[in-house]
Amino acid sequence: MKIVLLGFMGTGKTSVGMELSKALGYEFIDTDLLVEEREGMPISLIFKKKGEDYFRSLEQKIVEEVSRMEKAVIATGGGVIKNSTNVKNLGRRGVLVWLRADPEIILRRVLLEGGKRPLLDVAEPLREIKKLLAERIDLYRQADASVDTNYITPGEAAYEIMERLGLDSQQVTVDLKDRSYDIIIGSGILQNLGLRTKEFRPSKVALISNETVFSIYSDRIVKSFRQYHIDPEVILIPDGEEYKDFLWTYYLYGELLKAGFDRSSLLVALGGGVIGDITGFVASTYMRGIRFVQVPTTLLAQVDSSVGGKTGVNHPLGKNMIGTFSQPSLVFIDIDTLRTLPDREFYSGMAEIIKYGVISDGRLFDTLQADREDILAHGDSLVKIIKRSCEIKADVVSKDEREAGLRAILNYGHTIGHAIETVTGYNKYLHGEAVSIGMVAAADMAVRMKIMRRQEAGRIKELVELYNLPAIVPEDLNPGDLISAMTIDKKAKAGRLNFVLPESIGAVRIEEDVDKKLIKEVLTSGQL
Ligand SMILES: NC(=O)c1ccc[n+]([C@@H]2O[C@H](COP(=O)([O-])OP(=O)(O)OC[C@H]3O[C@@H](n4cnc5c(N)ncnc54)[C@H](O)[C@@H]3O)[C@@H](O)[C@H]2O)c1
Repeated sequence: MKIVLLGFMGTGKTSVGMELSKALGYEFIDTDLLVEEREGMPISLIFKKKGEDYFRSLEQKIVEEVSRMEKAVIATGGGVIKNSTNVKNLGRRGVLVWLRADPEIILRRVLLEGGKRPLLDVAEPLREIKKLLAERIDLYRQADASVDTNYITPGEAAYEIMERLGLDSQQVTVDLKDRSYDIIIGSGILQNLGLRTKEFRPSKVALISNETVFSIYSDRIVKSFRQYHIDPEVILIPDGEEYKDFLWTYYLYGELLKAGFDRSSLLVALGGGVIGDITGFVASTYMRGIRFVQVPTTLLAQVDSSVGGKTGVNHPLGKNMIGTFSQPSLVFIDIDTLRTLPDREFYSGMAEIIKYGVISDGRLFDTLQADREDILAHGDSLVKIIKRSCEIKADVVSKDEREAGLRAILNYGHTIGHAIETVTGYNKYLHGEAVSIGMVAAADMAVRMKIMRRQEAGRIKELVELYNLPAIVPEDLNPGDLISAMTIDKKAKAGRLNFVLPESIGAVRIEEDVDKKLIKEVLTSGQL
């Protein structure tokens, strides 16, 4: 994100901008200073020697250059706003913040500063300030947000801007060069979604959701969009995994076409993994690909499906068989949405977090054990573990976007988990529940293969049970059926079954072509 500070002279653009860039770790640019640097003389002298027109054209050139920057705080000269090309350039992928101050305070600050301000080199400077302010006020009103700097320090103003823009929330970056994107994680931040969407300057926005989620969050979301003059096309599909299919994909294409969506439009997915997967798939194929933002509202979607760019729909012959790799432009996580999520869904999402602990972070695993109460009470630990999970997934995806190697470790627990979902027709176990059984079974397999110590494996089973998740392969499931289902899974290669097996808590390895006899033993004998 780029933050552009607008406002009259003496409103604190430079001092606030410096504080803001320090706090955010963004680069700081002051367009006036750049002009002075280029010309090798102060602005007052440029005005005197070369005139205002010369200054304004140089300023426009510099504004155009800095507008291309990402992650920067840009303090602009007081008159930048008068030129509509400047405003357009700065607003591209940026948020305009107007700093306001009373004329008397402006005058005092300018006098204290000492330096000469060409525009105030008049007999009655206060009158001049009032006149110029009145002339520019409507221009400043084009800003996305405004902050009154009359009686606050630059540090306080910087903090207010961060709060207003939701930049005090946690942030994780998925580093994929020119396709990198941020994951924003915070509590009660839905109100900032409009602003975050506006940043992309889309020609049109569609909010794709289902009745269950939309009925709870529509007021907050639509209000946030309206605040930034976005009037989203709301498109709802029925709630359920069975609607993540081609029929509803076609329905979505049709709605977008009818509403005139073009290649600069943007889709916003509001919901769990089902909504995220189908929206991502539609976005990646509509007109050869348009941008989309993920607003995941289930724990599973927040820590797993919304991050990493796997999109897709189901086919009658197999789940998630049709899909693309396509990264979102932003993942926007408001953990408060989890308060309305049914408990069973919440626990199901915890399975994926346990998975991250086992595959790469023993400390996360320990936190899940130690901070259970705070996590279930939606305390600070919940934000912490969601952020850590996103960091782990972001790191893996950054290194191996298309699952050529490393990314496969994210499938820990999933080989058996998927098989359980398949043989039970996807309606008996939630995804996380099936994965939990799979994680404990894989740990058991690792013990039998002498890869992991039994005591360590026992800790995985204990943690799974601590979060009300099933740990044992149900007796009524036929091991032969489960093995057949594993063999036709899209991750199986030529009938050979590969497993992600834990070596210790925090480290896994991929074991290729595991002996089917051993798999059967594990599936039959009750794990650990
Ligand atoms: N793309 C990936 O990388 C990836 C990874 C894992 C899973 N998935 C996919 O994700 C899907 C499962 O996602 P899920 O577990 O989020 O299920 P889901 O999307 O079906 O959501 C579960 C239920 O919770 C409801 N819900 C969602 N948010 C709510 C909220 N805040 N308050 C109240 N109710 C809410 C939904 O309407 C639904 O009824 C599967 O289709 C799976 O294939 C994809």
